[in-house]
Amino acid sequence: MKKGKFIVVDGIDGSGKSTQIKMLKKRLGARATFTHDPGGTPTGEAIRTILLGKARLSPVALLLLFLASRAALVEEVIAPALARGKNVISDRFDSSTFAYQVHASGHTEFRPLMKAFAQNVLKDTRPDAYVLLDSDPVLARRRLFTDRKKKLNAYDKKPLSFHRAVRAGFKKIKSAGSKVFIVNGDRAPEEVFKDVSSIVSRILN
Ligand code: ADP
Ligand code: TYD
Repeated sequence: MKKGKFIVVDGIDGSGKSTQIKMLKKRLGARATFTHDPGGTPTGEAIRTILLGKARLSPVALLLLFLASRAALVEEVIAPALARGKNVISDRFDSSTFAYQVHASGHTEFRPLMKAFAQNVLKDTRPDAYVLLDSDPVLARRRLFTDRKKKLNAYDKKPLSFHRAVRAGFKKIKSAGSKVFIVNGDRAPEEVFKDVSSIVSRILN
């Protein structure tokens, strides 16, 4: 059976990921399985609660929890779905770890660990494409803070300089074997979706 395609949608907080993913769900219906990182499995959701809660964790503890959640997600959800020929779309993935934990937090010493994780845990479950929503952190934060339904997490409350560094981190992502698309997220959601859906259709077809 032909393996499914794996697409990641990522970007800074408030860049419009949830909005675009909701539109993709409507457009694709049963053509794809949707998931999110951190989370997506019972273990991953428990880890997500810790990660986005009030616990003060050291940078390495944070990194390992993100990786533990992702290991469960890959083993229990993504790899089996792809093997069944199902396409998978994930809200965030290792691109976020690179942008937040490595680039914006300045921990370049985490790179070898991420490389080992990719080789030993992800193995051939690597994204076919990353769709990165690029948004000015000032606009993205304004959106987040005016959306009353949205519960802010510890990252959302970090200073603007951190979110600028996260944005720059996303722009540096290069991945052997994966295509990287940077989409301007600072347009009307329908305009952004024209680009997102055309990229996703090209990858899936
Ligand atoms: P993310 O999942 O990246 O944090 P959301 O999709 O939840 O972002 O969007 C955050 C807020 O911004 C929501 O209130 C959403 O309705 C709004 N929003 C999303 N995309 C756009 C856009 N292109 N222009 C203006 N507002 C947007
Ligand atoms: P997110 O899933 O975007 O939830 P919401 O949109 O409901 O706030 O929140 C996850 C947060 O975790 C987000 O601020 C980005 C951060 N994150 C990392 O720092 N590293 C990672 O590897 C991942 C996947 C997320």
